[in-house]
Amino acid sequence: MKSSVKIRLLTVLLSCSIVTVISAQDILLPPPVKQGGKPLMQALNERQTTRTFTGENLSLQQLSDLLWAAWGINRPEEKKRTAPSARNIQEIDVYVTLQSGLYLYDAENNRLKQIHNRDIRSLTGTQDFVGKAPVNLVYVADMGKTGKKEGDKIADADLWWSYANCGFIAQNVYLYCASANLGCVVRGLVPKEKLAPEMGLRSNQVILLAQTVGVPQK
Ligand SMILES: Cc1cc2nc3c(=O)[nH]c(=O)nc-3n(C[C@H](O)[C@H](O)[C@H](O)COP(=O)(O)O)c2cc1C
Repeated sequence: MKSSVKIRLLTVLLSCSIVTVISAQDILLPPPVKQGGKPLMQALNERQTTRTFTGENLSLQQLSDLLWAAWGINRPEEKKRTAPSARNIQEIDVYVTLQSGLYLYDAENNRLKQIHNRDIRSLTGTQDFVGKAPVNLVYVADMGKTGKKEGDKIADADLWWSYANCGFIAQNVYLYCASANLGCVVRGLVPKEKLAPEMGLRSNQVILLAQTVGVPQK
């Protein structure tokens, strides 16, 4: 191949990869603030379910703090988290649905990795407030991490530990919300079969629960 053709080909390839990088609208989160907030006993006293939200968005700082509280890394040297998980398998993934699209929380890099740019908030639940609140978290067990391959049958009993692991994350979110004067509701009412393809999940990824977060309507 002539060198001028090679250079042109290389330029086209390079510009394609630049477009790819730019078009991936990941959200880099500010570092979470790991100090302050309400004392634990006060946050426990104020923990409650909220189902009415103003449409107001969370700031990026609130989103970062919320996700770190939920399932962030609090011991980087061991890559361990703010919530426990059986045998430290860490199979729960926290997906974040925002008006701007669907994201996966990447705790190590403190960013939201964009999966797609469609607003699927309303598809994460069956209740009216779900599509109007700014943030809906979807907790997904990546059963690939427990040895299940795509196409393998996943029985209810295979998910017991994952549901328990997920409960700790959801409670962290409740406590963060109480501390930050935000509102939330953990939800079992999730149309899982409709939602999974909208999220592009593999057959060995299982939706467990969702949690709506927003500014509470007084
Ligand atoms: C596993 C689980 C599933 C839940 N599912 C829903 C739900 O789908 N929709 C909803 O509005 N609330 C749901 N809730 C919230 C409960 O209704 C709520 O926690 C309960 O009424 C007690 O209120 P409190 O959280 O303010 O103490 C769920 C709670 C749990 C623990």
